[in-house]
Amino acid sequence: MSLLEVEDLHVYYEKAEALKGIDLRVEAGEIVSVIGPNGAGKTTMLDAISGLKEYEGRIQFDGRNVDEMDARELVAAGVVHCTEGRDLFPYFTVHQNLLMGAQLREDEAGVESDLDMVYELFPRLDERRTQEAHTMSGGEQQMLAIGRALMSDPKLLMLDEPTLGLAPIIIEDISEILEELSEQGLTVLLAEQNSTFAMRHAERLYLLETGNVELEGSPEEFRTNDYIRDAYMGIT
Ligand SMILES: Nc1ncnc2c1ncn2[C@@H]1O[C@H](COP(=O)(O)OP(=O)(O)O)[C@@H](O)[C@H]1O
Ligand SMILES: [Mg+2]
Repeated sequence: MSLLEVEDLHVYYEKAEALKGIDLRVEAGEIVSVIGPNGAGKTTMLDAISGLKEYEGRIQFDGRNVDEMDARELVAAGVVHCTEGRDLFPYFTVHQNLLMGAQLREDEAGVESDLDMVYELFPRLDERRTQEAHTMSGGEQQMLAIGRALMSDPKLLMLDEPTLGLAPIIIEDISEILEELSEQGLTVLLAEQNSTFAMRHAERLYLLETGNVELEGSPEEFRTNDYIRDAYMGIT
């Protein structure tokens, strides 16, 4: 059984069907990316998986039905969602924001060592421990959002458009972080409009368009697919 299994997922906003029966799976240790244009349904899908949006169909994480768990239970089980809006506490410091990520944890020693790990992974955050989140650049805030998500001790880290609006040099930093996390064996589900970034990091990809999965495959299969090349490459 896969770590995450999504079957025939339908999600509605009022009567509008945003996801029209999606199948997707993520194996433990994989980095999987969902690419697709604005409005395709990427955020809606992550929201359903992390319990923020009601759905029809089946979502199982680690063998358990997601709709039978509340948001806290999902985080405790390891489903950690780094949302597109980042949801930082703007007037909390970097350090306080990181601790908020660990608020459901009881393994104090683990929290301490994860704090060290996050500060090592993000030297910029280490330098800014006492700085309030709202005073930081977009890239630093994205790093803080990822750092805070790591403090929740994820089994599945879901990142929603982590490169959106960031300068290329910052995207490089985020790339290095993802590579490091991948080497550590973390499982990641990455939603991205930036298909170049997604193909670079994912071991498997899904193309989502207007609520349907149109293609699934390896980065190589995506890169050599004429439709992907015409519609998605070189435009990000
Ligand atoms: N809060 C909302 N109310 C109504 N429709 C929404 C809402 N959020 C998203 N949608 C619609 O659902 C579809 C999928 O959106 P979204 O999941 O945000 O796509 P993506 O993340 O791929 O850009 C779009 O048609 C969008 O307009
Ligand atoms: Mg989105």
